Amino acid sequence: MITEFEITLAQPADAQDIAELSRDAIERGLSWRWTERRVRRSIRDEATNVVVARRQGVLLGFAIMQYGDDDAHISLFAVQASQRRSGLGSALLAWLEATAGVAGIRTIRLEARAGNVAAKSFYGRHGFTEFGTSPGYYEDVEDAVRMVKRLGPEP
Ligand SMILES: CC(C)(COP(=O)(O)OP(=O)(O)OC[C@H]1O[C@@H](n2cnc3c(N)ncnc32)[C@H](O)[C@@H]1OP(=O)(O)O)[C@@H](O)C(=O)NCCC(=O)NCCS
Repeated sequence: MITEFEITLAQPADAQDIAELSRDAIERGLSWRWTERRVRRSIRDEATNVVVARRQGVLLGFAIMQYGDDDAHISLFAVQASQRRSGLGSALLAWLEATAGVAGIRTIRLEARAGNVAAKSFYGRHGFTEFGTSPGYYEDVEDAVRMVKRLGPEP
């Protein structure tokens, strides 16, 4: 069951919580690259959406998506472990897709760790397909699978 939460663009004050969730949920076993400083830069970047889901001010999940001219790239995406499997990730992704659609984006791409069964299942459930792998993408610790979703009809 989904209990109430709100999805908004992140504020600079969210950067630390986002960076810590990235370190714990996404960058496990790797160097901590998405530090507070880097997240703060992304929040300020006009070609990037940093989106947060909160309940009573507490960060439940976030996503970072970078925009190109025709396509967008999801760089980071995580939901707090205690909040998973209740539709929160789906709500964040729906927000990103709706916003990308309005911006005229045709394709969303992302990478996930090859061994990340949850992420592959989650994105697969939402219409993303695997189109390749990048060996050693994660600091030579793990390969990446590349996934893509077309938002509109073929040109
Ligand atoms: C991947 C992630 C964002 C999904 O968020 P979530 O809020 O749990 O997702 P939802 O509740 O909206 O799940 C929607 C559907 O995705 C699939 N799914 C989600 N988690 C899954 C899992 N652990 N195993 C299998 N399928 C899963 C299911 O089909 C699910 O529907 P269901 O619960 O009705 O079966 C979350 O597991 C997470 O933060 N993982 C750690 C960080 C990460 O891997 N990020 C992605 C790569 S950067």
